[in-house]
Amino acid sequence: MENKVILSGIQPSGIPTLANYVGALRNWKLLQNGNDCYYCVANMHALTVRQNPDELRERSLSMAALIIAFGIDPVKSPLFIQSDVHQHAELAWVLDCNTYMGELNRMTQFKDKSAKHADNINAGLFTYPVLMAGDILLYQADVVPVGNDQKQHVELARNIAIRFNNAFGETFKVPEPYIPKIGGRVMSLTDPEKKMSKSDPNPNSYISILDDPAVITKKFKRAVTDSEGRIAYEDGRPGMNNLLSIYCSMTGKTMDETLREFDGAGYGTLKTAVADSVIEVIKPVQETYYRVLNDRAELERIIKDGAQRAAETAEKTVDAVYRKVGLR
Ligand code: AMP
Ligand code: TRP
Repeated sequence: MENKVILSGIQPSGIPTLANYVGALRNWKLLQNGNDCYYCVANMHALTVRQNPDELRERSLSMAALIIAFGIDPVKSPLFIQSDVHQHAELAWVLDCNTYMGELNRMTQFKDKSAKHADNINAGLFTYPVLMAGDILLYQADVVPVGNDQKQHVELARNIAIRFNNAFGETFKVPEPYIPKIGGRVMSLTDPEKKMSKSDPNPNSYISILDDPAVITKKFKRAVTDSEGRIAYEDGRPGMNNLLSIYCSMTGKTMDETLREFDGAGYGTLKTAVADSVIEVIKPVQETYYRVLNDRAELERIIKDGAQRAAETAEKTVDAVYRKVGLR
């Protein structure tokens, strides 16, 4: 693959889960080699839900520390906080004026989130996919590593880019989503019909990246499976399929290799092995995280530098867009 531009973001809405790692952050790291990557803490997105200002500030910084702990090298790949690069807000408005209400009405995440936060269905929640399209298009990204739940938003970004290019001349690169074949949708451990989510009120349903090893083992032991009694990857067995997929993702093994390894084994053996594989990946991440977070001055320097470098690229796009639409 020739050098591509990669962009992705994560909301600082809580401590990331194993699902964020398997679905997205793992690929952020893998794509760093040979590509130009930009990674952002999407704090403006988090405002779509009411936030405590001090907590939001703190969580944005700790999310940056976690991204570094996951193996993102901020020297190679600018790592920044979205609101530190004002071009995100600027492009979003122009794109808002080039997006149809009908398109946004079809976004499944909007429907889910407005059902969950029925007392605060604000306009930002509705136009949030346009802000995200701007995040991507500002950097002329080719590839956007995300979990399955963001696929529809990346498709919207593609449609907006194509529409804008047709109306104003070639301006934006048309991006592609990059979703893992195994693990694009990690499921809840307590209700495997639902996706694993860091905002789930039941902490047993997810593995937090900062969970202790003993807690991780306990959560996997209690994970809901089924009564088939066989280890196999099959339709209609979401709990079993979820454990197998997590194991593949942690170990880098294929599904065939994994199924051979557990041929004839019991559920308990599989659950312990999955827990151990997760602990092995997570432990060094936790150690690095606390080290990075404790050097506040250095962390603040890193994100300031990231924002400056990101803004250089972003300003080129905003300048071109403002000229094309007649704002400059
Ligand atoms: P968020 O926590 O919503 O900011 O999501 C950060 C990244 O994790 C996005 O790329 C999501 O698509 C991905 N992600 C979130 N939940 C899951 C899940 N259950 N399975 C796989 N990927 C996920
Ligand atoms: N909306 C994404 C989520 O909730 C996070 C995000 C914001 C993002 N901006 C992005 C992902 C740009 C990819 C590219 O998961």
